[in-house]
Amino acid sequence: MSLVPLGASDGRTAWTVEAPDGRAFAVFLVDGEHHVTDAACPHNKGPLVEGWLRDEGRTLVCPWHWFRYDLRTGDCHNLPRYRLGVHPVVERDGALCADVGEPTAAPSLAERLRAHARGED
Ligand code: FES
Repeated sequence: MSLVPLGASDGRTAWTVEAPDGRAFAVFLVDGEHHVTDAACPHNKGPLVEGWLRDEGRTLVCPWHWFRYDLRTGDCHNLPRYRLGVHPVVERDGALCADVGEPTAAPSLAERLRAHARGED
């Protein structure tokens, strides 16, 4: 478990937070409920914090190519092979934090080339 404090909204409905290891996350405040996702779109790393919430806050739209993600599950409505990382929000010592887990190793060049050959990128 790796916890990242969400901080205060200060009137914002979307902002980013950063883990000590450098990973960035997007925080969305919808009807008083915090939702945390990876900051970068899994399609091509678009800045999701600049995206739009639709369907009464259930759908997040990436600002670059308009892929739509379920804000609660991370499912991509356009291409199922893209899954957005979503992270639970917990309270620790009176502060809201995202449980962002441990970092995963980035795929090697060979793994990326194989994925590309399979049409998965
Ligand atoms: S970078 Fe988000 S849809 Fe392409």
